[in-house]
Amino acid sequence: MIPSASGSRVAGKLGLTDRTLAGPRSRKLASAVKAGLVRVDRALEQELRVADRIADAASRYLYEAGGKRIRPMLAIITAQLGDGANDDVIEGATALEMTHLGSLYHDDVMDAADKRRGVPSAHAVWGNNVAILTGDLLFSRASQIMARQGERAIRLQADTFERLVLGQMHETVGPQDDEDRVEFYLQVLADKTGSLIAAAAQTGLIFANGPAEFEQPLISFGEKVGVAFQLLDDVIDLSEDPDETGKVPGTDLRAGVPTMPYLVLGQRTDAASVALLARIDDGVERIADGHDPAILDRELAELREHDATQATLDLAHAWSNEAVASLGPLPAGAVREALTRFAQAVADRSS
Ligand code: IPE
Ligand code: IPE
Ligand code: MG
Ligand code: MG
Repeated sequence: MIPSASGSRVAGKLGLTDRTLAGPRSRKLASAVKAGLVRVDRALEQELRVADRIADAASRYLYEAGGKRIRPMLAIITAQLGDGANDDVIEGATALEMTHLGSLYHDDVMDAADKRRGVPSAHAVWGNNVAILTGDLLFSRASQIMARQGERAIRLQADTFERLVLGQMHETVGPQDDEDRVEFYLQVLADKTGSLIAAAAQTGLIFANGPAEFEQPLISFGEKVGVAFQLLDDVIDLSEDPDETGKVPGTDLRAGVPTMPYLVLGQRTDAASVALLARIDDGVERIADGHDPAILDRELAELREHDATQATLDLAHAWSNEAVASLGPLPAGAVREALTRFAQAVADRSS
């Protein structure tokens, strides 16, 4: 078992890293990833220090709660196509993980999520303002780290962050009337989640001076696997088992945050689906007016069993297969195998 983060409870159960590195040819790669992740964690621990006491506690809070570290893991894997996980790769992976971490502080404010990584979310502890400012602080720190790597790195950081933010913005604002809601949402997923995962796969390669012809395939891989990852996240929001996810089940559904099972349900025209959608919408309105979020428990269970959820899983598999197809130009070997297994594991993860 590869410890993907010190003190990480969620990671221990998840096994995404383990599954990625499970193949017979992966032994060397697995030890490179393990050693690299220890260095990333050490760097995060250093870079998250803040002189101000409250800022320091708030900044370390979600880092110390765990996390799967899939973005640094991808960077360390793709670095093996070049010189391996040198100091630049570790710095880049650290900056991207910190960007991800900052986005979680903001996301939980926007989604009104009470729990993250098995602990109360930051805004539940310190309030919205401190949570937002802590996210901002982490983005600043991530930029400082990237700036040490030069102009190309800081540009990658800025471009990736812009896409992530616009993805979140589009999710919040929603599609125009004439736009296809599912297509629109898939673009949101590519922007808010695929962008950072793609940047991680790209960072490993370019900071390790790997062959330029692999850059586009890895970006495409990361973006597609990111969409599959997020589709599963939407299904996990409907999960029955809060312990496994470290989040409160149904948070997005109850807060009226669109997810793919809900959008697919909205495309169905049979009476039962139309009625379920109406009950969900009604519940969301009442929760917004202050009713107990538990009023949607039954609808949550029904949506979980509805074929809209199965359709979301099928879609995740299709995106995962596309991600694997993007790896065509890579040489056969441990890296390509691990990325393939990662894509497959992402499409049937349960937490
Ligand atoms: C959560 O990402 C946010 C999404 C993009 C779905 P992860 O599932 O990678 O979160 P941690 O880092 O393991 O907590
Ligand atoms: C995570 O999105 C935030 C970003 C990708 C920036 P979600 O809101 O879908 O993810 P969880 O379920 O809270 O982790
Ligand atoms: Mg959320
Ligand atoms: Mg969100």
